[in-house]
Amino acid sequence: MRKKRSGWVTAVFGGQFGDEGKGKIVDYLSQKADIVVRYNGGDNAGHSVSNQFGDFKISTMPTGTVSGVTGQVQVIGNGTVLNIISLTKELQYLEDKGIDLSNIRLYIDKASHLIMPWHIAHDKLEEERRKKHSNIVGTTQRGIGPAYADKYQRVGFRTGDLLNYEDFAWDFTKTYYYKAKLFRGLYETEYAAKGPNVELQELKAALDYLASKFGNLDNLICDTPPILWRAIDKGQNILLEGAQGALLDIDRGTYPYVTSSATGIAGASQGSGIPAADITERIMVVKAYMSRVGNGPFPTRASLYDEEKLREAGQEYGTVTGRPRNCGWFDAISFKYAAQLNKPTGIAVTRLDILDEFIIIGIREREEGIDHAYGWGLEKRVRGLRNWNLLPDRAKDLCNRIVGNYRLKYVSTGPSRDETIVAPKNRK
Ligand code: GTP
Ligand code: IMP
Ligand code: MG
Repeated sequence: MRKKRSGWVTAVFGGQFGDEGKGKIVDYLSQKADIVVRYNGGDNAGHSVSNQFGDFKISTMPTGTVSGVTGQVQVIGNGTVLNIISLTKELQYLEDKGIDLSNIRLYIDKASHLIMPWHIAHDKLEEERRKKHSNIVGTTQRGIGPAYADKYQRVGFRTGDLLNYEDFAWDFTKTYYYKAKLFRGLYETEYAAKGPNVELQELKAALDYLASKFGNLDNLICDTPPILWRAIDKGQNILLEGAQGALLDIDRGTYPYVTSSATGIAGASQGSGIPAADITERIMVVKAYMSRVGNGPFPTRASLYDEEKLREAGQEYGTVTGRPRNCGWFDAISFKYAAQLNKPTGIAVTRLDILDEFIIIGIREREEGIDHAYGWGLEKRVRGLRNWNLLPDRAKDLCNRIVGNYRLKYVSTGPSRDETIVAPKNRK
């Protein structure tokens, strides 16, 4: 009997505060994937991808959408929260960028939760309220927290509910008035501006658009784990794509300055329906320095001068919100914590080239603080290098210090797919 080909299931997740460059690494790995699954978060995420098909910013769709791999399946998993209006806009944007949607094989898990108009309103109102107490989270205001709150309160709408549109519309209208009453009482604000019918029409238009692009909605919105289980049985390759990062994890991040989902390896299993035991590779993505957008602790935040320089060199502005990101140095202590939680089988170090602009860089390896004595240099640039042996010794040394006892797998030296080094196992 022929031996069955055994495929891989690789989860890619962030090891810092998000924006580590997961999009870039997922795009690189998606070249050999049969299925790409988004497992957490929603349109708060902003993955940037540059490959031979163009430069893309993707929020809701799995990054595989722009992989160019024929027949690859894209799945929006049960752990995500979905705004179908912004999904529609994203698909139109991708079409404008030359992506032929008729080639995209998309499945949306029917158990994923919907981000409703009132969730977005609630997110904004809550941030306004917190502002008065100076403990604003700095959310992306996409309704992420309120949508997950309704999920856990067991009062949310699931994507599968859309399949029975008449019941959905009825529940939508009831909930609309309920939320309007809630907001009036709690925030003394009039929410019911548009009225439920206008909001419903917008949702219906989004649904009609999805049906026009992907055919029967019963096909598009379905129970996705069996698709994944079958693929594993057949020996196919599955890429699980995380959003945000370990330090923004709802349980283990810098609560309350976190997002509302499980960002790491546990979320990859829970949010996709793939048993944890079937996840064969766990790739944790970290930048060679750090950034944080939104509020919360950031022990390695750089001095004003260096922060500004990192922000400009790295163009560190939010993909979704355009907000300037706070910037700082690599924190080996929080790295160890993120690694302890997720036990990565490999590390991808990104944006090494941004440090080309610096003579002195910082790194925090001891509780006491940032070590600035680490000399860098401008004499040999890293940008675009594709071979480990070509890296200057200082860059190699920094990579080794970043990963410590974990295995360095990829080094990214630029935003493009091909600006990637696969680190040799026995490297110097
Ligand atoms: P979230 O899901 O929002 O957390 O985002 P992400 O991890 O996918 O990262 P995001 O795309 O928001 O930010 C990373 C940015 O760095 C993007 O603009 C990428 O194009 C870019 N990028 C990724 N790797 C590299 C690299 O090695 N060098 C340079 N210069 N840019 C890179
Ligand atoms: P929310 O996810 O919109 O509720 O935002 C909660 C926190 O997570 C805020 O600090 C956001 O800035 C941060 N956040 C959410 N999504 C991302 C992301 O994709 N990259 C970086 N930070 C994010
Ligand atoms: Mg991002």
